[in-house]
Amino acid sequence: MCGVVGFIGKRPCVRTIFEGLQRLEYRGYDSAGIATLSGGKIHTVKSDGKLARLEGHLKDLPQESFMGMGHTRWATHGAPTTQNAHPHVSGDLALIHNGIIENYRELKNELIKDGYSFKSETDSEVVLHLLSRELKSTPKMKDALLKIIARLHGAYGLGIMWAGEPDALYLVKQGSPVVIGTGTDENYFASDALALLPLTKSVIFLNDGEIGRLTKSTVELWDFSGKQLTRVPSVLNWTAASAEKQGYRHYMLKEIHEQPAVIAQTIARLVDSKTGKIDTKEMGIDDLDLSQVKSIVYVACGTAYYSAMISKYCVEQFVGVSVSVELASEFRNRDPYLDKETLVIAVTQSGETADTLACIKHAAAKGCQTFAVCNVRFSSIPRSAKSTLYMEAGPEVGVASTKAFTSMVLCHYLFGLAVAEKKKRVTPEVYGQAIQALKQLPMAVDRAVNAAGLIEDVAAKYYESPNFIFMGRGPSYMIALEGALKLKEVSYIHAEGYAGGELKHGPIALIDRHMPVVAVAPQDFHYEKMISNVEEVRAREGVVIGVGDLNDDKFKSLCRDYIPCPQSSDGALQTILTVIPLQFLAYYIAVKRGTDVDQPRNLAKSVTVE
Ligand code: G6P
Repeated sequence: MCGVVGFIGKRPCVRTIFEGLQRLEYRGYDSAGIATLSGGKIHTVKSDGKLARLEGHLKDLPQESFMGMGHTRWATHGAPTTQNAHPHVSGDLALIHNGIIENYRELKNELIKDGYSFKSETDSEVVLHLLSRELKSTPKMKDALLKIIARLHGAYGLGIMWAGEPDALYLVKQGSPVVIGTGTDENYFASDALALLPLTKSVIFLNDGEIGRLTKSTVELWDFSGKQLTRVPSVLNWTAASAEKQGYRHYMLKEIHEQPAVIAQTIARLVDSKTGKIDTKEMGIDDLDLSQVKSIVYVACGTAYYSAMISKYCVEQFVGVSVSVELASEFRNRDPYLDKETLVIAVTQSGETADTLACIKHAAAKGCQTFAVCNVRFSSIPRSAKSTLYMEAGPEVGVASTKAFTSMVLCHYLFGLAVAEKKKRVTPEVYGQAIQALKQLPMAVDRAVNAAGLIEDVAAKYYESPNFIFMGRGPSYMIALEGALKLKEVSYIHAEGYAGGELKHGPIALIDRHMPVVAVAPQDFHYEKMISNVEEVRAREGVVIGVGDLNDDKFKSLCRDYIPCPQSSDGALQTILTVIPLQFLAYYIAVKRGTDVDQPRNLAKSVTVE
């Protein structure tokens, strides 16, 4: 989705803003622009396509500009053209917008009747003209903003620059994220704290219904009623280096390789090595009233949704309450039955996904306890949930989620086990065995990551196939779904994930000698049935690529290609190990096909619109 960056200070800022936009590239975008204010005038450069194209125009901006704003646009209203790129400018006023103005048509008609003409097809330009019109009768920016926001429906993170007040930048937040960064003799804003990492770690996350005014040395905040607010900045615990590629060809590859460290660090942080007990306070569990919880509903999107589905195999079994898992976009748009005995858990890497955020707000309004599993501290979803378990997987920049997925699964497992222990649902023996399985996990993840070379060879054989089927049973069914999603996202190959038992209910019609079928069959309860499904595929000349135990000669002998994978004694933890070969497979196939691995077409990392 769109990225915004703003700077105000005492030094030339064009390059700083451009680099901020580069750090937001991962979010997905299709055009970009920068505006600066210098010599009492607004100067703008814009371009369709990627930032490399915009970079060629930066020389056209006055280099002695000390304040400015940049934008990367993910098209919603109007094609991804230079004309539609932000910043939008009208005379001495410039505006950038992340979000959607739902009533833009009605406002646009009104403004056209009033003599305003539009240069773009965007919904955002109506805000510019509304503000420009309001400033004629309300000459103070803050007051004009308070008036126009009453007319806007939808989501907006706005950045505004006005020659009438050449020493200030204004921000407005409703629905879309806006974070302010504070520096020495300079201040910044962005849609995502990652953009600000090399500049500052001192940040203020705006809440919905807030306006900000930045000068080079001050930050002022008001709510939408005009009341002044005070806020103490939070300190980010990510380093700038953690958001760099660190020698890897792509962020996705780096993030796959980070998984052994992330898993080991998470276990070390959340499980006391001496007592072998999970730290329920650090996990955010102590803030919940578990005696009230009779059912759990998980809400999530994309990869986070598949991770949540695995909670059925750990949280439900451990805790002994019914667990349902819902797509946030579906859940929020019906009227789900919720009561005070339902715990609603949002799972989200970014903490900003609009649909997931809406679900958690809805659940809280219905009186449910709410909990978040999230990677990004201070983001919107943790701020809306009663309590949060932070994954601490470090910045995930590749659009296709990898380390966040395995980290989420680990968090679900720890959550289930910790709650079960608190509710005395597990014997000390079972608890001890589960902790043992956890302790062996980091080494096993390391071994899974070390199989990369072999998977690259497999990818080289199949990268031209236009279709793929992935299948698994039990927790491995979720890995089939996630494996298919990864492949679709980064290689643009059509791929479907199926439960092994469902194959004969339709998808088997697709099997012929041209169809690669990735069969995920670890040595678990479902193994024999999976082997039968593999036989069914072979009987129809399907090409089987197996993912299973290193020593499983039976399964290996049935496969055209075989990817050995470490085994865990626990089915849910096994998914952490079996997904890694599928992440590599998707990655290497995408590299062979020459796609944009880290920023696949049409996708966005953080989906902040409905
Ligand atoms: C987008 C991303 C996916 C991600 C999903 C949910 O679609 O491209 O990788 O799984 O959003 O994001 P979240 O931040 O809520 O986990």
